[in-house]
Amino acid sequence: MPHHVRGVIARAKGEPVAVETIVVPDPGPGEAVVKVQACGVCHTDLHYRDGGINDDFPFLLGHEAAGVVEEVGPGVTDVEPGDFVILNWRAVCGRCRACRRGRPQYCFDTHNAAQKMTLLDGTELSPALGIGAFAEKTLVAAGQCTKVDPAASPAAAGLLGCGVMAGIGAAINTGNVGRGDTVAVIGCGGVGDAAILGSHLAGAAKVIAVDIDDRKLATAKSLGATHTVNSKETDPVEAIRELTGGFGADTVIEAVGRPETYRQAFYARDLAGTVVLVGVPTPEMTLELPLLDVFGCGGALKSSWYGDCLPSRDFPMLIDLYLQGRLDLDAFVTETIALDEVEKAFERMHDGDVLRSVVML
Ligand code: APR
Ligand code: ZN
Ligand code: ZN
Repeated sequence: MPHHVRGVIARAKGEPVAVETIVVPDPGPGEAVVKVQACGVCHTDLHYRDGGINDDFPFLLGHEAAGVVEEVGPGVTDVEPGDFVILNWRAVCGRCRACRRGRPQYCFDTHNAAQKMTLLDGTELSPALGIGAFAEKTLVAAGQCTKVDPAASPAAAGLLGCGVMAGIGAAINTGNVGRGDTVAVIGCGGVGDAAILGSHLAGAAKVIAVDIDDRKLATAKSLGATHTVNSKETDPVEAIRELTGGFGADTVIEAVGRPETYRQAFYARDLAGTVVLVGVPTPEMTLELPLLDVFGCGGALKSSWYGDCLPSRDFPMLIDLYLQGRLDLDAFVTETIALDEVEKAFERMHDGDVLRSVVML
C-alpha cells in the first residue's frame, strides 16, 4: 500500500516552500522506504527552491538525513527493516572503473530509486539530491542507506549525509591531513568548521581558521582551530605563512567558492603542500594565475566532491568516534525545528549564528 505522508515541496522558482501530502510507493526491486527521523537544512535545498540547480519542479526538499528503514523491496540484502541508517546522495555501482579504483565519488553508473514519489494528483516529484527527506517517509535506492550505530542521535547522524561529511572528508580523505601537519581552512561556515573538526581528528598540529566574520572565527576556535585570522583586517596569505615558519600550510582547505579565496588558498600552501577546493564557484567566475607560479607548484591542487567519502566506510567510523566523544557533531545542531518551519530556517540561514537547523520528525 502506498504511504500518504507530509513533505516539504518547492513548487516554483523562488516561491516559499510548503508542507503538502505526498505519495510514497512501496519499495520496488533494490529500493527502500525510510522513516525519516531528522534532516538538516542545507544551502543546497535553498538553491533547489531558487531554481539554481535545475528546473525539475516540484522538488521534495531535504537531503541530510537519518532514519529507520521501514520496508525493503525484492533483492535488498544490505539493509533490513529496523536498521538505523544515514542516507547518501546516490548508490554507486561498485563495478565500474572508478569504483574499482577506489574513487566511488566518480562512479559512472550511480542511481537513485527507480520509482517516483508523487503529489496527490499524480505529479512526479524530484527529490533533492535523490533523497527528499523533509518528509515523514521517503523512497530511496537501498544503496543510499548506510547502517550505523543506533545509539547516535538522529539529528547529529543526519548531518554526515552532506555538509559535515564534505568538510570532514576534505581534511581526512582528499587532503589526507596527517599527524603534526599544519592546516589552514578558508571560510568557516558549516563546511569549513567540519574541515576543522576533521583536521583536529587527523592529528594536525596547527589548524588556522580564516574568515571575514569574527563570530564565525569564535565558533571555529571552539571546534578546535588553534589560530584565527580575520581576512578583512589581515592579509591571510601572510598571516598563514607567519604562523607556519614562513612555509605556508601543508594543507589549505578552501570552503568559500570565490576567486579571491581560491587565490589565497593557492598562495598560502607550503610549496609541497596540498590545496583542497571544497567551495563551489558559480559558472562565470575565473581566476588568473602566473603560469610560472602554477609550474612551480610542487604540491597538489585537488577538488573535493562529497568529501571523497565512501559512505559504507566513513559513516559508521565517524559515528563510532562521535559516540566515543571524539567528534562533536552535536555542536553543528544549532536548533531543532518542525517540518513546517523550513521556510523560516531558510531566512535565518545567512544569519551568522545558525550552523544547522535540523528538522525532527
Ligand atoms: N574570505 C573568507 N571567508 C569568507 C569570505 C572571504 N572572502 N566570504 C565569505 N566567507 C565566509 C563566510 O563568512 C562564512 O563563514 O565563508 C563562510 C561560508 O559559509 P556558509 O555560507 O555557511 O557555507 P557552507 O555551507 O559552509 O559552504 C561553503 O562549500 O560545499 C561548498 O557549496 C558550498 O560553496 C559552498 C562552500
Ligand atoms: Zn547539503
Ligand atoms: Zn561505479
